[in-house]
Amino acid sequence: MSDEKLYIVLMGLPARGKSTLALRLRDAFQKNHISVRIFNNGNLRRIYRPLSETSSSEFYSPENSTARELRKGFARENMERAKAYLRNSGRIAILDATNAGRERRAMMEKYLNDYPLFFIECVNDDEDILNLSIQEKIKLPEFSHLGKDKAIKEFLKRIDYYRMIYTPLKVERNYIRIDSLQNMIIDEKHSDAIPFYERLRDYLVTDEVKNLFLIRHTETEYNVANRIGGDPPLTNKGQTQAAALGRFFKGKKISYIFTSKKIRTVDTAKAICETQDDCRIISLKEFDEIDAGICERMTYEEIEKKMPHVFKKRGADKYHYVYPDGESYETMKHRITQGIKKAFFLNRSANNIMIVGHQAVNRMILSHFLYRREDDVPYIYVPQDRFYHIVSTQNKKLFELKRYN
Ligand code: F6P
Repeated sequence: MSDEKLYIVLMGLPARGKSTLALRLRDAFQKNHISVRIFNNGNLRRIYRPLSETSSSEFYSPENSTARELRKGFARENMERAKAYLRNSGRIAILDATNAGRERRAMMEKYLNDYPLFFIECVNDDEDILNLSIQEKIKLPEFSHLGKDKAIKEFLKRIDYYRMIYTPLKVERNYIRIDSLQNMIIDEKHSDAIPFYERLRDYLVTDEVKNLFLIRHTETEYNVANRIGGDPPLTNKGQTQAAALGRFFKGKKISYIFTSKKIRTVDTAKAICETQDDCRIISLKEFDEIDAGICERMTYEEIEKKMPHVFKKRGADKYHYVYPDGESYETMKHRITQGIKKAFFLNRSANNIMIVGHQAVNRMILSHFLYRREDDVPYIYVPQDRFYHIVSTQNKKLFELKRYN
């Protein structure tokens, strides 16, 4: 067995996806039989200090010397544990903390000097994602004694305090700076031979999906009338179908259901959520149905009759045709990709992810994971009595159209 060993030190402001990344890396290395452990400063802090203290932003103020020493102590404790782990059977130690200032990182470089040290900075300034992440963070036990508004305020102030000492990676010998929403490397440098480097790089940029359940909203009043777009409610049959989906997924743990902002996807998701123990609906505008512009709320027959040029042109090149004042499949692509990235970021490390979308949206999501010729994408079959189960990992690809009733 090779004796190559490595320290990976995560770095980034709070709510930038560091812990999710730590878990992803751990899982990927473990799958390849490489012993790896995460050392998280926040966990020590929460064990050793009262939650009322660590939830307060003042605990993170650079001016608060007592708290600063305490936080430094947790960092030291984790460094010692990580060092002992590598000295024994461990091969990769992941140190998960903000590590925002140069001073802290210099201390780590000095102490963790027996094996190569590799920094990973998580960058992500998407406002929407930050807000949604914070909404999720404040549901943690650490904030349970505070009201929602106070918890958000404390968390935002904590971020500001870290921002005051934040210095991006630059002088460190080995690092990658990654956009943790896009899984895209922004900048990298390596001065030393870094064990597992190729693999690490690959894990960082790969979108893995363990189980994606892709569902189309159930029957709506517009589906019955053959009308497109709008914001119609579910029919009675649609509600029955949604309840059946709920029964079908009862035993599977779904922590988040991502929907569009439209009533039909949210109501379908609600019925599924009701059968789960702990499930949240997150509505993203990125998953709204294709905007049919001036044709919204019309039937295809009406479009053919009143706007034959639109009907004809769309029929001739459905993927690229842009509805007047609306969208095409092609112009939707960017927002759908953003929606997928957001959903994956927010779903964190959970095994199951569920999206309740629309016909055109689900076609685009499917084609994100399974290559289809552009001409074929607008014709992918997206029924309302079935759903797609997608697995796309390094070792497994699965696309299954399944009945739920
Ligand atoms: O008919 C339901 C619907 O979701 C409409 O809202 C949307 O315009 C349409 O499907 C998209 O499908 P197509 O691209 O085949 O018209």
